[in-house]
Amino acid sequence: MGASGSPIRGAYDLVESGGGDRGDLEPRSQPRGARPALKFAAALGAVLALAALLAVAVPAARSRATPNGESLLIRTGEGPVECDGCLNRGQPPIPRYQFDLAQHKLYIGGKNLGKGVVALPQKLGGGVTLTDLETGRTLSSLWYSNYGDYGAIPHHIISFPSENPYNEFEFINSCQGGLNTHLYRLANVDPHPPAATNIYRLRYDGNTLMIAENVSDSTGLGLGVHTSINPATAEEYAVSDGQKDVWAMFDRRSTFVKVAFRYDWEGNTPHNLKTNWIKGGKLTITRIYPDKETGKFDMLGSKGNKIDVELAPMSEGELEDGKTPGSARESTVAADGFVFHPSGKWGAEIIRMLGGAVLHNLTDPSYSPLSFLSFNFDTPGQVPVSKVNDDTWEVRVDYVGSPGHELGWTPDGTKFMMMNNLRENSVGLFDTSSDNPADWKKLGVIKDPLWKGMYPNPFHMGFSHDSKKAYFVVLRPPPERSNLMIVDLTTFHIIKEIQGITQDMQSIATTMDGKFLLIITGGFQRFASGLFVLDIDTDEPLGFIPAPGGHHDLAVVPRTVSDMKYTRAICM
Ligand SMILES: *[C@@H]1O[C@H](CO)[C@@H](O)[C@H](O)[C@H]1NC(C)=O
Ligand SMILES: *[C@@H]1O[C@H](CO)[C@@H](O)[C@H](O)[C@H]1NC(C)=O
Repeated sequence: MGASGSPIRGAYDLVESGGGDRGDLEPRSQPRGARPALKFAAALGAVLALAALLAVAVPAARSRATPNGESLLIRTGEGPVECDGCLNRGQPPIPRYQFDLAQHKLYIGGKNLGKGVVALPQKLGGGVTLTDLETGRTLSSLWYSNYGDYGAIPHHIISFPSENPYNEFEFINSCQGGLNTHLYRLANVDPHPPAATNIYRLRYDGNTLMIAENVSDSTGLGLGVHTSINPATAEEYAVSDGQKDVWAMFDRRSTFVKVAFRYDWEGNTPHNLKTNWIKGGKLTITRIYPDKETGKFDMLGSKGNKIDVELAPMSEGELEDGKTPGSARESTVAADGFVFHPSGKWGAEIIRMLGGAVLHNLTDPSYSPLSFLSFNFDTPGQVPVSKVNDDTWEVRVDYVGSPGHELGWTPDGTKFMMMNNLRENSVGLFDTSSDNPADWKKLGVIKDPLWKGMYPNPFHMGFSHDSKKAYFVVLRPPPERSNLMIVDLTTFHIIKEIQGITQDMQSIATTMDGKFLLIITGGFQRFASGLFVLDIDTDEPLGFIPAPGGHHDLAVVPRTVSDMKYTRAICM
């Protein structure tokens, strides 16, 4: 608004009409009670003239830049308050200046994390928030219920690269739904929650978050678990669902489903769930297609679910014990995540119930499966798949030592590991340094003497950017607190363990400069949550950035395609 209709003259009009980098510097004081109108006008003329000179001569001296590069005006009040009825009539010019965010950064344990944006899906909170790591501000939030999805459990997340995430970036968020809210032993939850289970592509435009595309609606695929982006190109992304045992690869630009696979198990002891997986059987891998008429799959919401709830950590045993409800429990393998080799040439779908992963050849246009990798201590490392026809492959697995829960490559692609949870309680490792996967060999397992029985157990993984150190969250049952273990990947020795940090520590990320490790904590949807920060140089904890909502995943926005190997495109 200009000043013409304003009772407080001069407060704004000079800013508008003058524009530019003029500015008087520090707040000034005027003698109280004086009528400074004329004097002020004269002084103002001088200030304006001086400012104009300064603007031409040394503009830098009078304007500073904000983190976003906007110029920072420092303004004073330009005129006295003159209106007749004003109580503050005659007060001296009002000191005004622009708040400078760059001067008010967030320090955690004495350190500022630098520029970077982290996207946090809030599981039972039903939304996603974006946190500026440099200042601690929440940049934007989105809650799916406002758009008509009342059952969304925002679950996993991965971001495409952006040179300046403060201006713009895009990410994928997979959401679960249905009875998965019943996993947390909350009192009086909705007995019939909406089936939900949708994939969304979200965009931040520098101001607000918006749903750029409802990927499930475009494709007919309701998949709600891990999502990852091909780190070699950032042009395709995978989403999996372990209740359906399906994963699909989507073209980033067109959302065209390039391939989709389903995995089904036939145990050697089909009428005995307890031994259904342990005593071996046959894994069938099927390439599935959309309906020819509609061009879409028929897997929205809970359609295609074999089990009614996902297998939460350590619930593989509940499936064996017959405690997990579902219509096709015996064929379930909990294929709920696809990770990429950093080269983008290979990718692997986790097969949790079998303690392994199916390796797919991504240079092959049909993304055909190559072999089954078993990470258990005393099983054969690689089992080749046999082709039945163009869309069907089989693997025979004789014995399963332990189911597994997380899978991932190091950023340099030389090591591939999986958490053998539940029974074996170890981390199985492959050497994947050869360019020919047929040469990949199981090295063995890393084990802590404390990992006895089911808990504590190694859970999510992360890596230093030089691939020399691995970070394992060590899970203990709630309300006990989880630990963080640091492992030297050159010697496989455990460097140290920081115990009792907080309940339910989950996925790990790093800042893109490689200096800080970030672990999101979900509080099992009811205990403490936050974003835990560790200094990677010293491996000492710095503290928590507040993050309410109960999270299971996080995505620091990568700057370039080559940063993608520092995201959870390669590990869980
Ligand atoms: C996304 O699409 C699915 C399937 O059509 C629908 O059930 C869901 O409500 C949609 N979500 C939003 C936010 O519109
Ligand atoms: C992967 O697929 C490509 C293209 O079909 C093929 O040339 C290559 O030999 C395959 N790799 C392996 C290890 O089978």
